[in-house]
Amino acid sequence: LSDKMVKICCIGAGYVGGPTMAVIALKCPDIEVVVVDISKPRIEAWNSDTLPIYEPGLDDVVKQCRGKNLFFSTDVEKHVAEADIIFVSVNTPTKTRGLGAGKAADLTYWESAARMIADVSKSDKIVVEKSTVPVKTAEAIEKILTHNSKGINYQILSNPEFLAEGTAIEDLFKPDRVLIGGRETPGGRKAVQALKDVYAHWVPEDRILTTNLWSAELSKLAANAFLAQRISSVNAISALCEATGANVSEVAYAVGKDTRIGPKFLNASVGFGGSCFQKDILNLVYICECNGLPEVANYWKQVIKINDYQKSRFVNRVVSSMFNTVSGKKIAVLGFAFKKDTGDTRETPAIDVCKGLLGDKAQISIYDPQVTEDQIQRDLAMNKFDWDHPMHLQPTSPTAVKQVSCVWDAYEATKGAHGLCILTEWDEFKTLDYQKIFDNMQKPAFVFDGRNIVDPEKLREIGFIVYSIGKPLDAWLKDMPAVA
Ligand code: UDX
Ligand code: UDX
Ligand code: ADP
Repeated sequence: LSDKMVKICCIGAGYVGGPTMAVIALKCPDIEVVVVDISKPRIEAWNSDTLPIYEPGLDDVVKQCRGKNLFFSTDVEKHVAEADIIFVSVNTPTKTRGLGAGKAADLTYWESAARMIADVSKSDKIVVEKSTVPVKTAEAIEKILTHNSKGINYQILSNPEFLAEGTAIEDLFKPDRVLIGGRETPGGRKAVQALKDVYAHWVPEDRILTTNLWSAELSKLAANAFLAQRISSVNAISALCEATGANVSEVAYAVGKDTRIGPKFLNASVGFGGSCFQKDILNLVYICECNGLPEVANYWKQVIKINDYQKSRFVNRVVSSMFNTVSGKKIAVLGFAFKKDTGDTRETPAIDVCKGLLGDKAQISIYDPQVTEDQIQRDLAMNKFDWDHPMHLQPTSPTAVKQVSCVWDAYEATKGAHGLCILTEWDEFKTLDYQKIFDNMQKPAFVFDGRNIVDPEKLREIGFIVYSIGKPLDAWLKDMPAVA
């Protein structure tokens, strides 16, 4: 590899592949990076001024390298054939039917990518697993490749991506660690070193960890499970805070001060979302079950159950405070993305909360600075795999979607509304003119803060009835049953 320019090809130009390859290209001017995808519109967007994903700092990085050593193409086979290192970053959704439906990862895209690699390769390849996949996927991929190899040598590596959306570029520039798993054979070690050399362009050596294949694959699932578990833990405590008069922010601060626990990732919320946490935990659960470990499976399943409970608890707070019905009432929803600084809505808690409100026949008016009406309507019409969802979070009928309107302004969304739900922690929601919003709402006017970003005392002074997650309750809410 060392005597010629290294060529990298990444299959899948999504939230992971796009930003990761852009940063590799920026940091490694001596490497040519081509990102390929079967989706023509996606590649066109990557080649345009409007990138297909919103990510702070990404535009800048792409502009610096695109056309120099960073390319986006739909000519998948050509670029795979030419590459030395192939990253596979295709989607791995949860299976919706068949064996393991609702839990196991759907590896259809992965498998077809692997078969394509086997078909078109004429030289030795290092194939790098980048999308989160179940443990032992590398083994399956290895089998597909070696059984179709035509004498070509394939080395499979697992190099899970730990970036978080909204901070992807920052995370890629300064990763806590880069993890590379490979076979413990001479060929495997050489491949690990080749990938290590790529990252060593900008990541300090002591942050590049090398392990065996299974450790790398499992570490990704475990890390996401631990992170999600912290949120479910603090959210579970938030319910108890509301019942007792404790304040979850004070409790989380006090708990997080213990350096063994740490202060990060302890914000109580309406629930976690995103493409990874639920999917990866479901994966972990399925793997445990398949390996005869039902106790371990149930332990992790509980993290998702608390997350579903937190979303339904929120809906119940809204409905019960408004005299047990939101039928025909306008409810404003501020924020639909699963977190701030992204337009991504995969598994966003807003979907379940909106479906819950729609189930009670509310009229909802949604504003999110980065999510299109099209996306919202699609999300709310979509059927989720019904693995363990409470009754009132059942999918809505297509007609219910007519109860939804989307607007491009928070004041428009809240005009004439009975209640206002904050579901994403966008910075701009902290500085809205809440007096103006109050003046234009029906009375009594309610605020349900699913992200604890507004000061409940200030809003109460204006006249709102305020619900914040895990905070001492208004007298109004105390009399209302909150738990289904
Ligand atoms: C996550 C992991 O952080 C990342 O390392 C992994 O590679 C992919 O999955 P991401 O899903 O992009 O990243 O976002 P993250 O910041 O982890 O947030 C996930 C969800 O948890 C969001 O809905 C967020 O709002 C919620 N959250 C996060 C909380 O409710 N409270 C917190 O304290 C932190
Ligand atoms: C604990 C708390 O640490 C302390 O803050 C609180 O005031 C009292 O309870 P203690 O029980 O004395 O203190 O010991 P600790 O070090 O927390 O260990 C508790 C148990 O966990 C021990 O049996 C220890 O062996 C075990 N442990 C700890 C592990 O198995 N793995 C670990 O990583 C850490
Ligand atoms: P992630 O968040 O993991 O990056 P995305 O869904 O954003 O996931 O991106 C995955 C991308 O992979 C999609 O753009 C999809 O079109 C692409 N993809 C899936 N299968 C293939 C394939 N066989 N060849 C090329 N691209 C593929």
